[in-house]
Amino acid sequence: MSTNTVDDKRKVTTVRLQQMKDRGEKIAMLTAYDYTMAQLVDAAGIDAILIGDSAANVMAGYSSTLPITVDEMIMYASSVVRGAKRALIVCDMPFGSYQGNSDVALANAVRIIKESGAEALKLEGGEEIRESIEKIISAGIPVMGHLGLTPQSVNKFGGYGLRAKGEAEAQKLIADAKLLEQLGCFAVVLEKIPAALAKQVSESLSIPTIGIGAGSGTDGQVLVLQDMLGMNGGFSPKFLRKYADLGNVITESIGQYVSDVKAVDFPNADEQY
Ligand code: KIV
Repeated sequence: MSTNTVDDKRKVTTVRLQQMKDRGEKIAMLTAYDYTMAQLVDAAGIDAILIGDSAANVMAGYSSTLPITVDEMIMYASSVVRGAKRALIVCDMPFGSYQGNSDVALANAVRIIKESGAEALKLEGGEEIRESIEKIISAGIPVMGHLGLTPQSVNKFGGYGLRAKGEAEAQKLIADAKLLEQLGCFAVVLEKIPAALAKQVSESLSIPTIGIGAGSGTDGQVLVLQDMLGMNGGFSPKFLRKYADLGNVITESIGQYVSDVKAVDFPNADEQY
């Protein structure tokens, strides 16, 4: 029996994600940031929900993920935790909360887990954040790695383009992926790298890889919810498949409501006491 159908009500854990990789079943992950959407995403049978720091973009309107704070991530994550019952809940650690002192990283990790109820954390980077990952994992908190395009490093990269096109960067990514596995990460996100490289890394690791803009050779896929539902206007990168046109549905519905109110068509006789 498939383990990621809506009929399967068993809680998804990091152990179950590993079992999915082991038997060749793909992992479906999406972001969510609030209670209502988390309920809908969970009911649809998603395996894992990421409270991405992309909340900075799609929820708060910032042009990068850099400004979002630990307090804000806790607020978004606790809302998702209240809405989702089945999916594994992974929360991003925001920029500045884990890149420096590893004791500070551990304190922030413990705070996010304690105050939000999330079950795992995602951190961007490899060797540079090794100490933080080690301390967080040794506290019993599952860690998901994130390599390739790591948006918290946008100012270093100079944009959001394809990463690891050249041999040196590809070799570093391969080494970092191995390191994350050795440190005990339960999965690794591979963002916006060549599909052939993502496939090679996925085949060389025993832990699952989750791709975004990394082709079909990864063990799972993740997308930003608002992007795949067509709520994010002009954002149409090549890797994005839009499963709905909710942006237009919402705007048209609200436009109709405005007309109905102005025309005194709403509420009608059946819609009042
Ligand atoms: O913040 C986010 O939404 C992410 C995904 C794009 C992987 O990190």
